[in-house]
Amino acid sequence: MTQHIRTETFNRVRRILIDRPDKKNALTVGMYQSMADALVEADADPGVRVVLVHGRPDCFCAGNDLDDFLNNPPQDDDAPVVRFLNAISGAVKPIVAATGGPAVGIGTTMLLHCDLVYAAPDTKLQLPFTLLGLVPEAASSYLLPALAGYQRAAELLLLGKPFTAAKALEAGIVTEVIPEADVIDYAVEAATTLAALPAASVQMTKALMKKHARPLVAEQMHEELALFRTRLASPEAREAFSAFLEKRPPDFSKF
Ligand code: COA
Repeated sequence: MTQHIRTETFNRVRRILIDRPDKKNALTVGMYQSMADALVEADADPGVRVVLVHGRPDCFCAGNDLDDFLNNPPQDDDAPVVRFLNAISGAVKPIVAATGGPAVGIGTTMLLHCDLVYAAPDTKLQLPFTLLGLVPEAASSYLLPALAGYQRAAELLLLGKPFTAAKALEAGIVTEVIPEADVIDYAVEAATTLAALPAASVQMTKALMKKHARPLVAEQMHEELALFRTRLASPEAREAFSAFLEKRPPDFSKF
């Protein structure tokens, strides 16, 4: 397990802490692997009833590591990012998330698979796929229109601009906006409350709510991933990643 993902279990809650602050919690291949393992283990462990995911109160996750996108892109369905997406979208036990600061790319789309999402007001969400020459992932191209309505989803997914926790609340991505100083404690309390309820009842309720969407999510994710892999190799995407890492604006004029 990478040092940047830390896990512990308390009160029958498995905490997954994203901890790579110097890179704004951008997710590397190793981090996806650890998060996928933690989710699969939590589902299998009878001593765990709820999963809690968070970073620091001022930094949730800056999305996929862009250096990895350039130099270590996912090749096939065994790639750790795919394992992570399968684990989070198929989780049997409820997932609670707390966010603050950047929640970019998969830092936003993973929230669509969580059951309770608490966001600090300064959470800066963003779905910058078109800005990077990519396409959406994590079935966000299906889940977001279903959740927020087509026009709201289209604004977020086509223009790709950052948006606030208040806007995410309006779009249905976030359960509640909680002051930054309290957001993690609030999520811990919600997770602990959930873990104290009859587990079978909680899991059956989640399964019933997810039943119709699950096959559609799996199908959309499969299609998105095939397109995503093609786009990752596109000259536009490679220019966007290089530009970010070289701290300059991208130059799309030649494409
Ligand atoms: N991949 C790799 N490194 C990343 C990263 C990412 N997704 N996001 C941030 N970092 C790194 C920066 O390169 C920088 O590294 P350095 O200190 O070695 O130069 C460090 O994290 C701090 O980032 P910085 O951009 O200086 O912080 P900020 O507070 O000004 O901005 C973000 C934060 C998240 C808005 C900005 O970093 C960003 O836009 N990141 C890219 C997000 C993205 O496109 N993700 C992929 C989505 S598919």
